[in-house]
Amino acid sequence: MDLGIAGRKAIVCASSRGLGLACAKALATAGCEVVINGRNREHLAAAAAELKKTGAKVIPVAADVASPDGQKALFAACPEPDILVNNNAGPPFRDFRELDRQKMLDGVTGNMIVAIELIQKVIDPMVARKFGRIVNITSGSVKAPIAGLDLSSGARAGLTAFLAGVARSVAASNVTINFVLPGIFETDRFRSNVEATVRKRGISYEIALKERVDAVPAKRIGNPDELGAACAFLCSAQSGYITGQNILIDGGAFPGAF
Ligand SMILES: NC(=O)c1ccc[n+]([C@@H]2O[C@H](COP(=O)([O-])OP(=O)(O)OC[C@H]3O[C@@H](n4cnc5c(N)ncnc54)[C@H](OP(=O)(O)O)[C@@H]3O)[C@@H](O)[C@H]2O)c1
Repeated sequence: MDLGIAGRKAIVCASSRGLGLACAKALATAGCEVVINGRNREHLAAAAAELKKTGAKVIPVAADVASPDGQKALFAACPEPDILVNNNAGPPFRDFRELDRQKMLDGVTGNMIVAIELIQKVIDPMVARKFGRIVNITSGSVKAPIAGLDLSSGARAGLTAFLAGVARSVAASNVTINFVLPGIFETDRFRSNVEATVRKRGISYEIALKERVDAVPAKRIGNPDELGAACAFLCSAQSGYITGQNILIDGGAFPGAF
């Protein structure tokens, strides 16, 4: 399917590895010019080299997306993106009793405020150009709790509710705001979550992994490219009538029909 976005400019935050990288790859394959981002320069350079194989223009920006300077660097590389994919690391696995005020503020900043700040900067030019696609990578935990990821779930649910109204306010200008909610995907973040379970319960990695996979009706871990493809579709020319939606990509793990 031709997604109709060849030549569009995209910023994909936190995209040197994992789900962000998969989204950047799918957009680059669709012909977009892609700004990719991460703090570690080596990982970022490796990701840029991989993405350039698609033939797309790829601009790596080594920066912390959560910092004002990092955001400035992203917009210096691409002042008026047509597409913004919001992504960032999530807070570490932790019992909620261990969270002090600063940790909570950092979590809410990283998984809610940063995305809103970036959207504030891109949305009016998108409205003026009558095209904009914003996709926020959140988590299946927005819909179904995961003990230990309470801060992550809370901040992302806050982002979801905040943007629900914003999405409707720009829909008439062909600017859409949607969310992809990953279940379990084969990434460094997922592996570190499994390792936290291993430490907490004193079980082997294989058993901890099997427990997670057994809970998924598809009986497997997601491939990041599967999420990347869904993200690229939500950024496509054809997806202009989909907005304000939370798309679970979780192999059926969420047990509800709605
Ligand atoms: N994988 C899953 O199963 C899963 C499930 C549910 C939700 N999620 C959520 O989806 C998001 C992506 O997860 P993932 O599994 O792809 O993580 P990952 O494999 O750990 O990759 C995270 C990426 O973000 C970059 N990054 C992290 N902090 C950054 C910052 N402050 N500024 C710029 N770049 C930053 C990392 O590069 P540097 O470290 O070099 O900066 C890396 O490229 C996370 O919020 C995660 O909680 C993942």
